[in-house]
Amino acid sequence: MSFQEKLEKNVWGFLIMIAIVVSIGGIVEIVPLFYLDNTIEKLTKDEDSIRPYTALELEGRDVYIREGCYLCHSQMIRPFRDEKERYGHYSLAAESKYDHPFQWGSKRTGPDLARVGGKYSDAWQIQHLRAPRSLVPESVMPDYAFFEDHQIDASLTGKKMKALRMVGVPYTDADIAGAADAVTGKTEMDAIVAYLQVLGTMVKFEEGKDYRE
Ligand code: HEC
Repeated sequence: MSFQEKLEKNVWGFLIMIAIVVSIGGIVEIVPLFYLDNTIEKLTKDEDSIRPYTALELEGRDVYIREGCYLCHSQMIRPFRDEKERYGHYSLAAESKYDHPFQWGSKRTGPDLARVGGKYSDAWQIQHLRAPRSLVPESVMPDYAFFEDHQIDASLTGKKMKALRMVGVPYTDADIAGAADAVTGKTEMDAIVAYLQVLGTMVKFEEGKDYRE
């Protein structure tokens, strides 16, 4: 029996060979992304306008992830005309550079939220989260009124920021020291509204300008 025949008749051997070949392919594609400088484009003018989330926004983001909002909402506007007309400028990689993990998503039961910040007032957002159908009668979004009854656990916020700093988010010692005070007495509703209101607002886009290099 030739080597090939033996291999083809050996399921486990074959599986291992497939795993090796697929990992090599994966490594070749993924590893360069970790050291190529141009993976994240530089924003020539607004380079500094993208900042890490504040303590309250960060807690809001955690509520967003815990509740699985990403299962119905994407946060990535694709560079197509219909998307730009509905949601605004397409998303830039730099806008997600402090997101761990990013919330791009691929499911749009509801609209994309990448630029929902500033689209509505805080009062609208609160009422919509409490009872979506009170504002949009045909909505299938669940009620999240309980956010108002849940306090943020201020003892964890600083630790979360420290963990994020380890993966490259530039929180300062002062940010971390002030984290507990910034979220004490706040509810999950305050936090998620703060988060929604900052989405997509960090880069001030100029009409007609393409923000890729
Ligand atoms: C079952 C799917 C579903 C889930 C889960 C869900 N949503 Fe929605 N969401 C929708 C739908 C559908 C709409 C559009 C109708 C409406 O405005 O209520 C919407 C609309 C919105 C809007 C208004 C967007 C706009 O541009 O008008 C916001 C903000 C929003 N959702 C936030 C959230 C947040 C925050 C969560 C998690 C706490 C969440 N959604 C969870 C389905 C969902």
